[in-house]
Amino acid sequence: MAKKIRVGILFGGKSVEHEISILSAKNVAQAIDRKKYHISFIKIDKRGACFSKTAIFKSIQFVDVIFPILHGPFGEDGTVQGMLKLANIPFVGPSVLGSAICMDKEVTKRLLKEGGIGIADFLKIKDSDPISFSEVTAKLGLPFFIKPANLGSSVGIHKVKNEKEFKVALKDAFQFDSKILIEKYIEGREVECAVLGNENPIASRVGEIIPQHEFYSYEAKYLDENGAVLKVPAELEGDLEKRIQELSLKIFKLLECEGMARVDFFLNANHEIIVNEVNTIPGFTKISMYPKLFEASGISYSNLIDRLIQLALKRFKREQKLKTTFRVP
Ligand SMILES: Nc1ncnc2c1ncn2[C@@H]1O[C@H](COP(=O)(O)OP(=O)(O)O)[C@@H](O)[C@H]1O
Ligand SMILES: [Mg+2]
Repeated sequence: MAKKIRVGILFGGKSVEHEISILSAKNVAQAIDRKKYHISFIKIDKRGACFSKTAIFKSIQFVDVIFPILHGPFGEDGTVQGMLKLANIPFVGPSVLGSAICMDKEVTKRLLKEGGIGIADFLKIKDSDPISFSEVTAKLGLPFFIKPANLGSSVGIHKVKNEKEFKVALKDAFQFDSKILIEKYIEGREVECAVLGNENPIASRVGEIIPQHEFYSYEAKYLDENGAVLKVPAELEGDLEKRIQELSLKIFKLLECEGMARVDFFLNANHEIIVNEVNTIPGFTKISMYPKLFEASGISYSNLIDRLIQLALKRFKREQKLKTTFRVP
């Protein structure tokens, strides 16, 4: 019998999505094929503390591949990926650059715009260069959205309808990041597509999120059980699903993604597809969109995990082949 591949599930973490990460890690552990894989858990506590340099390096010496299930900054943003690269350990999901790009909503949007892909008009604001309410409304109208550039889970995100709300939103968003985005409000449906693969990725069926709150806020995501309805697959007219899938693959490649990503869109009444954001370590509980979308596409949760690990190992092999020394011929 072939030797079991040792998988380290790296989970927990400093971000507000700590609890979701624990749930995802449990689900992955339950579904993974134990005949093929041996798993161990590497937990990062909420202060990021247990993550002392020696502890993490000791734990990862005993694994063949890491499955990071860490959402948001210090997990999904290229920092952990950089550490694993330095330690010469294969890992699931995009590498340093793709992770860092997708974590930063402003850089993501700039690259998408350059690629001719539809995004919401936005202004980038640093805490050192304030902007007035009238300047914003002149450019983006009302309402508009304010969000920290590098965060997730709708933390620090506000829908602004007047000057008073603007001031509150600005102050709040700047608590989480020194760079924020002010975005034109997009009225439309929210649809998502999951992508899997390295050089030749595949796109899943498209799903829809129907928030029962004013938008898909933190409360709607995590606090209110009935905060949103997930529809998998989404009911989409004509060739819309195909267009969204093709666009998702294009975006995946454009943003240097590998392994996995979930691409989130708005779909307006004119059937225009506008990209909202790309998540490189999407939620991984059994009821999360990413695994659900692949399940609806004929790839079971445990098969999905298997494929993701194999993709991580393949990428690692590919990278190992690159020359690291140069001799003048
Ligand atoms: N420009 C926008 N127009 C309309 N709704 C928006 C806009 N930006 C964000 N939202 C709403 O806020 C939610 C969270 O925003 P998002 O940019 O996806 O941040 P996060 O990374 O925290 O999920 C979205 O799912 C959507 O409901
Ligand atoms: Mg989102």
